[in-house]
Amino acid sequence: MCGIVGYTGHQPAQKIVIESLKKLEYRGYDSSGIATKEDKLVICKKEGPIANMESILPKSSSNLAIAHTRWATHGVPSDTNAHPHTDGDNSVAVVHNGTIDNYLAIRENLEKEGYNFKSESDSEVLPILISKYYAGDLVEALNKTLADIQGIFTIAVIHENHPDEIVAVRHETPLIIGVGNSENFIASDIYAVLKYTQQIVYPEDNQIVRVTPESIELFDFDLKSIDYEVETVEKYTEVAEKGGYEHFMLKEIFEQPKALQDSLTELLVDSPLERLGLNWKIGSISIVACGTSYHAGLVGKYVIEQLTAIPVSVGYSSEFRYAAPVQGVGGLLSSRPLVVLISQSGETADTLAAARSAKQQGCHTIAICNVPGSRITREVDGVIITKSGQEVGVAATKTFLTQMQALYALGVHLAFNSGSLDHPQLKLWESEIRKIPSKITQVLNNSEAIKALVPHFVKAKSAFFIGRNINYPLAMEGALKLKEISYIHAEGYPAGELKHGPLALLSKETPVLAIAMQDHTYSKLVSNIEEVSARSAPVITLCQKGDQQIPKISDSYFELPEIDPVLSPFTVAVFLQLLSYYVAHELGTEIDKPRNLAKSVTVE
Ligand code: M6R
Repeated sequence: MCGIVGYTGHQPAQKIVIESLKKLEYRGYDSSGIATKEDKLVICKKEGPIANMESILPKSSSNLAIAHTRWATHGVPSDTNAHPHTDGDNSVAVVHNGTIDNYLAIRENLEKEGYNFKSESDSEVLPILISKYYAGDLVEALNKTLADIQGIFTIAVIHENHPDEIVAVRHETPLIIGVGNSENFIASDIYAVLKYTQQIVYPEDNQIVRVTPESIELFDFDLKSIDYEVETVEKYTEVAEKGGYEHFMLKEIFEQPKALQDSLTELLVDSPLERLGLNWKIGSISIVACGTSYHAGLVGKYVIEQLTAIPVSVGYSSEFRYAAPVQGVGGLLSSRPLVVLISQSGETADTLAAARSAKQQGCHTIAICNVPGSRITREVDGVIITKSGQEVGVAATKTFLTQMQALYALGVHLAFNSGSLDHPQLKLWESEIRKIPSKITQVLNNSEAIKALVPHFVKAKSAFFIGRNINYPLAMEGALKLKEISYIHAEGYPAGELKHGPLALLSKETPVLAIAMQDHTYSKLVSNIEEVSARSAPVITLCQKGDQQIPKISDSYFELPEIDPVLSPFTVAVFLQLLSYYVAHELGTEIDKPRNLAKSVTVE
């Protein structure tokens, strides 16, 4: 969702903020804009890709700029609704990520006072309020504005009277400060500034920030000064490039063996449970996440419940805070519930709200996250960082695999800790987990055979993905991937459920992708495939190498390398990602930035 960058220093600001803004494109946006300080403030904004805005940029000599990519919430994507917004005199320019919930009432009052509005955006009240309250100090003017507004926001402001100053604030949406030499940056995330600095300050929620080239100040809402620490971001957090691949998504799919390899060390060594503060007998686990991360959580449930006697529930973050209290809350310390929050970005508003609700209830919280320093990692009791590197494609791929890997490792260590696995069994599991990268490499090496399945899907209006047990979540993930990037309607179903309704939709135009691994559900899945075939729907089956039965009952099939069925979600996932990618590629959709979607969903 919206991306914010700002620069104040000794270099030409326009070029720097445009480059930084491009690093935030992956978040998803529909328009972009920039404000620089020339003799007066100059605003340039345009609907569409950043290149549209760049093509009309005036020459600039400014060393101060703020810029924005907008993901529309209030008002259609348009030049006028794009940010920055200004007050009537163009003395204040503001960029905003989030929503101002009470903007209508504020706008009505301001209109009565004689102020005029140009856009439909909720954000436009901000520069007008700031300008109204401005009496020489921009921090004070912003602080007064904050008393009037409700919602969630990161706001960055420049004023024509302050040629080297950016003032910003965060409330439930992201903001970081990049620290340079006689120059400073603000941004929505570290990827925007990594080219220039690895020194980062992470303001907390409800802190106001003032940066100039030589200074960084943080204030609370009483305008008391706050101390801060400068952290160095690890080198592995590199800014992603396409590296010869046509799309980031394809590159990220092929990076998965490395991502799993890189993440292993943290997961399997150094007493992970101790590090996570998991030193009591856990009575129950709730896993909470959105989208693909939720699907990883569902896989985690099967693994953890199979390995330990601990009951695991999995819920969507957006529902968690409205659900009944977590089981075990208020009981003895020995039964303190564990809540595992999964978010690759660490900035998903729904998952952050769930984390806060779990903490308020007294649960122990841990996060599985791919972005060190992100919001969620700073709010929970323990963190597992997956080391996938930056994921740019909106469709989550490599982070899904490393999230699953983290949950397997967690399950194995919980089982060892509770005595359900002995030491040799723990080592055996660890060695199986270490083999996954080579297994998925075999799927990647067979991508031509996956491409050959594309004709089954390209003309379809709708498709079904079915699986059982640990591969039921994979059916859901396969359907999500397909609909997200190819815009073909798809549903993931437990294979046994088709006959309870969806079978009515099947026809020869409705392909059904079945995941048939050699586990205890295999024979039932074979029956489900027969039921589908009997309704003339094409069946494309994922089976294990050497399967004798599946080729006879499927229209097409793909053989996965031999692997213990409990580890099959990894190989299945890679197949499903590639299939969706090739279908979308054939249809010519915007694979890395699907319509209407954002990579980082920072509103609830
Ligand atoms: O950053 P998060 O893992 O919290 O994101 C959660 C979902 O928004 C995300 O997985 C989304 O469903 C992906 N676009 C799916 O490919």
